[in-house]
Amino acid sequence: MTLASPRRVSSIAFAIGGLASFFIFASLLLLTHPIGSSVSGYFYGTETTQHVEFHHSSDDIGTSDSNPSLDSSSDSPPLTRDREDPNESTDARLGEETKSGRSTNISMDEEEATQDSVETECDLYHGNWFYDPMGPSYTNNSCPLLTQMQNCQGNGRPDKGYENWRWKPSQCDLPRFDAKKFLELMKGKTLAFIGDSVARNQMESMMCLLWQVETPVNRGNRKMQRWYFRSSSVMIARMWSSWLVHQFNEPFGFAPQGVTKLKLDQPDERIIEALPKFDVVVLSSGHWFAKQSVYILNDEIVGGQLWWPDKSKQENVNNVEAFGISVETILKAIAKHPNYKGLTILRTWSPDHYEGGAWNTGGSCTGKVEPLSPGKLVKNGFTEIMHEKQATGFQRAVADDKLGNRSKKLKLMDITEAFGYRHDGHPGPYRSPDPKKITKRGPDGQPPPQDCLHWCMPGPVDTWNEMVLEIIRRDMEGGRS
Ligand SMILES: *[C@@H]1O[C@H](CO)[C@@H](O)[C@H](O)[C@H]1NC(C)=O
Ligand SMILES: *[C@@H]1O[C@H](CO)[C@@H](O)[C@H](O)[C@H]1NC(C)=O
Ligand SMILES: *[C@@H]1O[C@H](CO)[C@@H](O)[C@H](O)[C@H]1NC(C)=O
Ligand SMILES: *[C@@H]1O[C@H](CO)[C@@H](O)[C@H](O)[C@H]1NC(C)=O
Repeated sequence: MTLASPRRVSSIAFAIGGLASFFIFASLLLLTHPIGSSVSGYFYGTETTQHVEFHHSSDDIGTSDSNPSLDSSSDSPPLTRDREDPNESTDARLGEETKSGRSTNISMDEEEATQDSVETECDLYHGNWFYDPMGPSYTNNSCPLLTQMQNCQGNGRPDKGYENWRWKPSQCDLPRFDAKKFLELMKGKTLAFIGDSVARNQMESMMCLLWQVETPVNRGNRKMQRWYFRSSSVMIARMWSSWLVHQFNEPFGFAPQGVTKLKLDQPDERIIEALPKFDVVVLSSGHWFAKQSVYILNDEIVGGQLWWPDKSKQENVNNVEAFGISVETILKAIAKHPNYKGLTILRTWSPDHYEGGAWNTGGSCTGKVEPLSPGKLVKNGFTEIMHEKQATGFQRAVADDKLGNRSKKLKLMDITEAFGYRHDGHPGPYRSPDPKKITKRGPDGQPPPQDCLHWCMPGPVDTWNEMVLEIIRRDMEGGRS
């Protein structure tokens, strides 16, 4: 592939694995409303169902993939699912942290001493955004692997300054992404992104960054997108997994066929099966916990999101709790895997920026052309609680005694706060090259839906891969920052 024909390549990529189906993403509605003291009541609340039509999403994952009427031509809510996944029962996500917080034992063995030195490394996740006139290292024209929805410039976004802001941790510098260095460090290894459409967003950013130094070979298949860099034998892979835990549709207990069921205490078996092929895994998930599903723990139905047949039955686990449990489950399963010794990076909750409504009720991030100033972060209750549950799930996994020193291979890439400032980094109305989609109002007079969840490319999402490179470098070079 040459860079001269990016449109063609990107349309192939689109056809193979790109965005295909779009789903109702109910809780974006919630995201726009600050959450008061009664968080769990809020999430259980029938409030959500009053605003959003959910009848068609009763089996959203199952049917959407196979239902051609729900393809990219529909008015797309921000969460997308790939067509490439042949098995509906799959989802994945990851997470991790730089500190183990594991032991209060003061008798330091060698392991803990090492841990200590890790903890004294510069914290990458507190700092500020600064304007870098040098700009991004690729453009929409020099990256052939770019989902059209994230091609903000190609979709007519008029401003460009948002591409130039870089992240500066308080105590050190986060180097610009050095593609040669990455390929060198990863020589002979495979890095996999596992998760939902936001994980795809990050994977494509990584591909765009690497593409600038070498054109990779497509080694993908129906199950997994894979790109191979010959010079260094590096493989970049991507697996779809919306929840990262075991998912199925068959009837279970009082939950009928068609409603998605999640076994919160069982990892997505596809991830477990694929792990031996990977050396570094970047996991992320979360947003799908706003969608309809039934939660199962110890083979019992313990709760449901946007589904509960009978008010007389008690719900013990809401979607926020379920998210935390799922994070713990997948991380422990990965750390205990007998044939995976790699590094596992959990990228935390990616904040959205809908104002004045949800994606389907006129919510907008139009006109945001630069990051929020320091201290001007607007609290978002849903983001905060999801991030908290995710971090807790991570900590519980790391604290598991049975993991021993393997917990050191779990890292939390804690981007949530930093990216809370980047309300300027989303496609907003510029989700499609078709200008009608930007301006045409719906039959109800609503403006067209915006995407204030995913990230423009180039754009702030590239920072995630600078962080991934730094985490890998520290792991491989023994930690000094
Ligand atoms: C899909 O997953 C289900 C449940 O894990 C499994 O029974 C089935 O065989 C899988 N199908 C394919 C095509 O992999
Ligand atoms: C501290 O660690 C030592 C050796 O690893 C172990 O024998 C001891 O029980 C631990 N003490 C506590 C309080 O965990
Ligand atoms: C990239 O963006 C420019 C506008 O900045 C646009 O003219 C061009 O068509 C876009 N290219 C692609 C491949 O989308
Ligand atoms: C953990 O300990 C085992 C056995 O002592 C050792 O072989 C392995 O390299 C250690 N792993 C890490 C990540 O330190």
